[in-house]
Amino acid sequence: MLKTHTCGQLRLQDVGSTVTLAGWVHRRRDHGGLIFVDLRDRWGITQVVFNPAVSHEAHQTASQLRNEYVIQVRGQVSRRPEGMENPKMATGEIELLAQELVILNESKTPPFYINEDVEVEETLRLRYRYLDLRRERMQRNIILRHETIRFIRNFLCDHGFVEIETPILIRSTPEGARDYVVPSRLHPGKFYALPQSPQQLKQLLMVAGFERYFQIARCFRDEDQRADRQPEFTQLDLEMSFVEREDVMQITEDLFTALVPAISEKRILHSPFPRLTYKEAMDKFGTDKPDIRFEMYLTDLTDIVRNSTFRVFQSVIQAGGQVKAICAPGCADYSRRQLDELTSLAQELGAKGLIWFAIREGEVRSPIAKFLSEEELQGILTRMNAQVGDLILVIADAPSTVAEVLGELRLEMGARLGLKDDNVLGFAWITDFPLLEWDEEAQRFTAVHHPFTAPLDEDLPLLESKPEKVRAKAYDIVANGYEVGGGSIRIHRRDIQSRLFRVIGLSEEEARFQFGHLLEAFEYGAPPHGGIAPGIDRLVMLLAGEPNIREVMAFPKTQSAVDLMLQAPAPISEEQLRELHIKLDL
Ligand code: AMO
Ligand code: AMP
Repeated sequence: MLKTHTCGQLRLQDVGSTVTLAGWVHRRRDHGGLIFVDLRDRWGITQVVFNPAVSHEAHQTASQLRNEYVIQVRGQVSRRPEGMENPKMATGEIELLAQELVILNESKTPPFYINEDVEVEETLRLRYRYLDLRRERMQRNIILRHETIRFIRNFLCDHGFVEIETPILIRSTPEGARDYVVPSRLHPGKFYALPQSPQQLKQLLMVAGFERYFQIARCFRDEDQRADRQPEFTQLDLEMSFVEREDVMQITEDLFTALVPAISEKRILHSPFPRLTYKEAMDKFGTDKPDIRFEMYLTDLTDIVRNSTFRVFQSVIQAGGQVKAICAPGCADYSRRQLDELTSLAQELGAKGLIWFAIREGEVRSPIAKFLSEEELQGILTRMNAQVGDLILVIADAPSTVAEVLGELRLEMGARLGLKDDNVLGFAWITDFPLLEWDEEAQRFTAVHHPFTAPLDEDLPLLESKPEKVRAKAYDIVANGYEVGGGSIRIHRRDIQSRLFRVIGLSEEEARFQFGHLLEAFEYGAPPHGGIAPGIDRLVMLLAGEPNIREVMAFPKTQSAVDLMLQAPAPISEEQLRELHIKLDL
């Protein structure tokens, strides 16, 4: 090794020993006589002092040093002079008196500060990701990611899971996004698809008898990018045989419960994790990935204003819509402008408007107060449990719009009121998702999760008669408003699978074409099985307290799926195209 110690290692008890350190020049201060260099490596920072009285030559060389030069220093560990200690640094009580200095490599001036946690434009960070990754925050995040994966791997190995790799060049396994495809040179006109997840392969591994499988699996999905979405991302993919929902949920919950305190300072809000059915989550939070760190539940007022003379309520309710509200404490003194802002936000989210009630001492202010009877107004205040100082926000619309808009307003008010405690992870399970949803465009039912998800036993008789009423043996794990993972018990019986295919309008023949391998495998003794796939990127993002998953990925892509460092995607040569039998039509 070119170093005997790391830059985060030396302490008072090392004073007097001669050591060699190597790393990057984090900062250099030239005090005429003395030159101070903060030397950085992965483990920390150590102050090095170049004193011409100790080594004239080393001091001379040190005067050429610039930030990010790579150097090796030999010297004696020394106690810092009285009053010069730095309690903020782990190595703050000592310094290294340099005797020899070797410049191992020079560095151009970096395009942004590496030694300061300043805001840098993200495109610049991504273009020079290898420099961005040198920064403390990114080193911390990437190492946290490593610790997370290591913990998961150890935990699952200790619980009898086998880690198995599955191929990247496969055939389309739909998870609801577009596939990334790879042209085949050997088979002109044919394409591999990159896995949207290892879903079918892990089910085949259950047929193969492994019983407990996991993989830290890369998944590829060509879909619109968002803060919590990337074209390639990582799942903890797992599958188990001879299990019911409860078993998969239990092992996942045990894993998360052990993981969080082991690798982060975050506190889990409720253990065991609360469970909500999909319906409860939609009713109370307007979303299937609720942030349960605060209440401010969506409350239904439809029955109270059913016979109201107010035009908006009348028309919405007649059309089968809902009137729902949230109550934001302490916001009754919002100004006209603030209320207009909230109204614009609601409109941007798809509402036609926003009705508000400000509960002030001795009066209730509202643009629609004059349209409501005393009884209706009192009914609303009682139902909302309104106190002086509260601001009630009401949306009237189709149920899906009410859920979406009021759910977002709830998050907005929660953020404004500081109700989202950053130190807390509010895990919850969402269960009993609908199995199928009606696809307006295709004019048929499609699977909400995927077509191998089992229906609840008690709902099975409704599969043909009332498909929209059938609930699935599916579960999502959510935290702080994010879907962290999803899974289900699968259909392992051929007869039920055929019935489901028929309901989603997939003929025997189409099913054979798309999923023949799986259907065939299921005819050779498939055990009952199920699994889950938590998203590693989202999990680490939450553990790190970062606002998006790019901050916890070493080499992420931009919102438009571009790698700015590698400049990918990129054109390929005529020669390569010819070999692949591809003609471009741009
Ligand atoms: P699902 O499609 O719900 O389930 O995905 C599981 C989890 O993967 C993460 N995730 C993503 N993370 C980052 N970027 C993306 N584009 C992205 N898409 C999904 C989320 C999500 O909860 N095979 C099934 C699992 C199963 O049934 O066992 C599946 O992939 O955290
Ligand atoms: P208008 O009569 O259209 O001026 O609406 C009266 C009030 O109701 C205004 O404050 C609108 O923002 C609000 N509003 C109109 N439509 C809706 C709706 N569907 N849901 C909630 N508020 C609405």
